[in-house]
Amino acid sequence: MTEFLSTASAPGKAILLGEHAVVYGKPAIAIPVSQLRVEATIEAFRCPDNEIWIDSPTIRLYKNIKDLPYEHPLREVVEMTLAECKNRSFPGLMIRINSSLPIGGGMGSGAAVSCAVIRALSKCIDGQPLATETINRLTFEVEKIYHGNPSGVDNTVITYEQPIYFRRNTPLVKIKIGKTIHLVIADTGINSATSLMVSGVRKRFDQNKEIYQQKFDAIAKLVDEAREAIESGNIQLLAETMNENHRLLQEIEVSSFALDRLVKTARSAGALAAKLIGAGGGGNMIALCTGETAKSVSQALNAAGAVRVFSFTLTGEQTEE
Ligand code: MEV
Repeated sequence: MTEFLSTASAPGKAILLGEHAVVYGKPAIAIPVSQLRVEATIEAFRCPDNEIWIDSPTIRLYKNIKDLPYEHPLREVVEMTLAECKNRSFPGLMIRINSSLPIGGGMGSGAAVSCAVIRALSKCIDGQPLATETINRLTFEVEKIYHGNPSGVDNTVITYEQPIYFRRNTPLVKIKIGKTIHLVIADTGINSATSLMVSGVRKRFDQNKEIYQQKFDAIAKLVDEAREAIESGNIQLLAETMNENHRLLQEIEVSSFALDRLVKTARSAGALAAKLIGAGGGGNMIALCTGETAKSVSQALNAAGAVRVFSFTLTGEQTEE
């Protein structure tokens, strides 16, 4: 019989405003998407002591971690976790990873996998998970393998599972939700690598420093306005900032035909605002709705060919509708 030793999960995330500019030291607002999660389960496994195997059906991986390349993010996650744990010996283990998050969809699947594995494995080996701060730091280290130069926003919102106002190298600020926010997320179904999108922006930034700096400053101003709007419950102002943020993201060339099409569909169906989320190029978009329009916007996005659409509300604690 399978012996389950520990389990832990981590949510997906959506960046409401500020992606890309956040890499250049500007603020961003990110929320956890608790309905879509990665779950890591640790089981006793018949293999030599101190050996660890990974089973991740989503990426068709079933291997002893020692047989993965040194730079493989899952090998790094496991080895960094073991280095932080107090206990040095344990029985043979199997880590099973299950995810409902789209890979390459701008919703933080890589960071959620790292976070869930670190939590579950450390709980199994030491009897309690590592401190949240340590989990966040290790998840960030693995993000560097996935993305090269991550801002840290993804690992932070995923590890703390709270709406946050995030700025590189400054203490995290949790955001209070003044009034219920109705959101719909839709997936273009097109995978996009964050590292490529981030390096593309870097290249254009290096060629047009002054113009890009102005755009990042404009995004930073929107983020600050949006934070006030969220805290005071001014949904109309939040909508204006999100729409304008999408326009600036188009200008820095990270949107795409498929994303713009879903953004337009959502607005035509009554969304107050719509924008891409995350690195762009493909992946997901988000629509800001009211309680009355969320359903019609979801239907319109489905009809327009989105591969997955779901709605949820943000009330300080997210609840599924
Ligand atoms: C990716 O989810 C968000 C980006 O701003 C990259 C980063 O912050 O590391 C595009």
